[in-house]
Amino acid sequence: MNNIKKNILNDYDNQKEYMDRIKERNDVFFNKFGIRRKYMILTYGCQMNEHDSERMEGLLGNIGYETTSDLKEADLIIFNTCLVRENAELKVYGKLGELKQLKKDNPNLIIAVCGCMPQKEEVRDYITKKYRHVDLVFGTHNYYKLPEMIESKTQTNNRVVDVWEDGEDLIEGMPAKRKYGYKAFINIMKGCNNFCTYCIVPYTRGRERSRLPEDILGEIMKLAKEGCKEVTLLGQNVNSYGKSLESKVSFAQLLYMINDIEGIRRIRFMTSHPKDLSDELIDAMKNCKKVVEHLHLPFQSGSSRILKKMNRKYGKEQYLVLVEKIKKAIPDISLTTDIIVGFPGETDEDFEDTLDVVKKVGFDSAFTFLYSIRTGTPAAEMKDQIPDDIKHERFDKLLATINSISAKINQDMIGRTFEVLVENISKNDKSMLSGRTRSFKLVHFKGPKELIGKFANVKITKTKTWFLEGEMVQR
Ligand code: 5AD
Ligand code: SF4
Repeated sequence: MNNIKKNILNDYDNQKEYMDRIKERNDVFFNKFGIRRKYMILTYGCQMNEHDSERMEGLLGNIGYETTSDLKEADLIIFNTCLVRENAELKVYGKLGELKQLKKDNPNLIIAVCGCMPQKEEVRDYITKKYRHVDLVFGTHNYYKLPEMIESKTQTNNRVVDVWEDGEDLIEGMPAKRKYGYKAFINIMKGCNNFCTYCIVPYTRGRERSRLPEDILGEIMKLAKEGCKEVTLLGQNVNSYGKSLESKVSFAQLLYMINDIEGIRRIRFMTSHPKDLSDELIDAMKNCKKVVEHLHLPFQSGSSRILKKMNRKYGKEQYLVLVEKIKKAIPDISLTTDIIVGFPGETDEDFEDTLDVVKKVGFDSAFTFLYSIRTGTPAAEMKDQIPDDIKHERFDKLLATINSISAKINQDMIGRTFEVLVENISKNDKSMLSGRTRSFKLVHFKGPKELIGKFANVKITKTKTWFLEGEMVQR
């Protein structure tokens, strides 16, 4: 089945007529039955997907839908999927299977699968053939057409499969339903040009494209006026922001501009590719008071030989030198990373190099992944795949090493006071609040719930496995 389209110009304005029609229908339903039609979005994978879901929620909210967390109650269920590792993919198949009965009980239910999985032809074909109860299938480039697709399904009862290989433009002006008022994700670019040999993202998210700085600044200024205090700038490789723009504004320059926006108190960003982390950016991080002391800098493997096979374009020593430079410029920087264990051909010596980097850098925390074969990537074709038992053995050893280092770093925070942006009432203990330091540490402390969305100074008193505990103090 080849229903993929190439480089179509996005036409978000055209959605207006579909949005009006659906809204009218949903309002009639509400007036008749006193309840709103409901949707549920299940989001898998990275923050890009999280943010795309916020956009779809914004669209659905504008056309008379309400959110629900009960699948049985939903009139529309959307799976925003991830293809980065096999387990994310398997989870979606499992859930889709479960929904078969729900669809039988409620034939008007619309089930959609979007995001990265449909971008791969084999996966898309598998979904459309195996799960006949899926009504809408679309990808990462055209989710803004959700109203048109809902309308088409409703009017014709035919399944819609609409996936684009790439999208020409970045869409501006779409609504978003943001989870929090005081912090927001901002997509500053999309796609990736790096083609790390293990990674499916360049195939599912297309080529790298940056949003115009004025669009990004406009969005952040608007959010700041509405009370947003913290922004996280998102991109697969934010360090190469601006390269696709005629004006060639660098990421560092963008940080300086955002730093000047009144009301914003913290600027985060992710993800940074070590090969593109410039001195200019380190200077900007140092000079911009609002840029937090936290850097997520994936190194993936400590072995220069494996890094070469991964097409990462830096070696072990280069990474360590870069980290030293950053630590020198910003002494209290908190560093986090991504590491893959069991890449094809990884020997015990290669793995020792990974442990060595972990120990030398002293990461505050790390996301560790078992290498997962992704069909269509060069690494999937490599002959020397590592057996699962060895992968797991190395993984456990790596995790133990990381945990002991991060426990030590957290221990050293005891007795010190940090600014915390209060985010929630703690899940485990309702008498506690939880929030994050600038360095992204999760802190629990006692305080009034009116502090949610505000800043508090918290003195750290205890460390737990996943968070720190403290007490509020006046500075
Ligand atoms: N197997 C395991 N981990 C992967 N990642 C990307 N592709 C794979 C894969 N095939 C990890 C990388 C990346 C993070 C988002 O996911 O560490 O930085
Ligand atoms: Fe994947 Fe590499 Fe691009 Fe990150 S930089 S999204 S790991 S290809």
